[in-house]
Amino acid sequence: MSLEPHGGILVQSYAPKEEVETIETEIPLDEISLSDLELIAIGGYSPINGFLQEADYESVVENLRLADGTVWSIPITLPVEQEIANRLTVGSKSRLVYDGTTYGSIDVQEIFTPDKEKEALLVYGTTDLEHPGVKKLFHRGPIYVGGEITLHKRLSKPFEAHSFDPVETRAAFKEKGWETIVGFQTRNPVHRAHEYIQKTALETVDALFLNPLVGETKSDDISASIRMESYEVLLKNYYPTNRVFLGVFPAAMRYAGPREAIFHALVRKNYGCTHFIVGRDHAGVGDYYGTYDAQKIFEQFSESEIGIVPLKFEHSFYCQKCEGMATTKTCPHGKEDRVILSGTKVRGMLRAGEVPPSTFSRPEVIKVLIDGLKKEESQ
Ligand code: ADX
Repeated sequence: MSLEPHGGILVQSYAPKEEVETIETEIPLDEISLSDLELIAIGGYSPINGFLQEADYESVVENLRLADGTVWSIPITLPVEQEIANRLTVGSKSRLVYDGTTYGSIDVQEIFTPDKEKEALLVYGTTDLEHPGVKKLFHRGPIYVGGEITLHKRLSKPFEAHSFDPVETRAAFKEKGWETIVGFQTRNPVHRAHEYIQKTALETVDALFLNPLVGETKSDDISASIRMESYEVLLKNYYPTNRVFLGVFPAAMRYAGPREAIFHALVRKNYGCTHFIVGRDHAGVGDYYGTYDAQKIFEQFSESEIGIVPLKFEHSFYCQKCEGMATTKTCPHGKEDRVILSGTKVRGMLRAGEVPPSTFSRPEVIKVLIDGLKKEESQ
């Protein structure tokens, strides 16, 4: 397996010493663009080296490819308000500022007005404002600024011990002698179903890169700090630690289902993975996407264009009759024998201090979640 980054080069665009305070104009970033800035600079989004210009943007929205044909499924954009756009000049630099601090700069190469209805429909499959990704899209500024970026200041790392840039994960995987590494995206605690598909994958590859997303998520998802504690306790008690690597993915969640599955896979390729798990309704929300749409979308591309192998898993669950974890592919029994709980139901149980069955989630994980939620609520 080749460990080539997507598009062949790992973008490196961090220049801490560059003099930027003399640049007059500034663009305020929101949490999404701040995390995108850093991820572009550290190569997570290679080969993208800036916020998309119009030709790339249109091409990604319409064809899931950059203008040069490289597969890319989520438009990485820098939205601004009209009055900010009015102050910018194409061909000059602008500082990228979050909460009063300059984190980077952009060579303003283009300023354009996107068709957000079209973006919503093609990227998210809906213009429904109830969809959290679509809601966010329309909430952000109406004008996009495109151009190459440089990062000047690293973001603070809430999970320092588990924060690694793609160059670091690549080096670590190499050092451990791992040749095949499966990446796992999650925005949830790892329950038995997740554990089952990860371990099934681990039967055939050298290692698992557990790569939870810790950027912005919707408000009813469980917070990253509680989740991180739950991953640690799970790994300690149930995983072969010499074959697992826990590192955070500092991006925002888009809830773009199939499109986001491709994006998630390409980014994990940049982190050095050779395989990527795509299960049931990957990056989905509500009923916007079909259960296996995020798997089917990979069929649109050749293996070499994607360059990371998607490992596709059916809906998995504990079956009381099989007395073990299974999927519809391996279990002949009926619904009544299967332990299936929706995310909403589980969150409700945890908040009420109720313990879901150990066939659904490991007791150590449940304890961390109940204690963590209690603590958060009392703050
Ligand atoms: S996601 O938004 O980050 O995709 P989640 O953390 O729930 O949500 O899922 C992480 C990965 O596990 C995704 O690939 C998803 O498809 C898969 N997955 C989650 N639950 C199941 C399940 N019960 N059976 C099979 N795959 C699952």
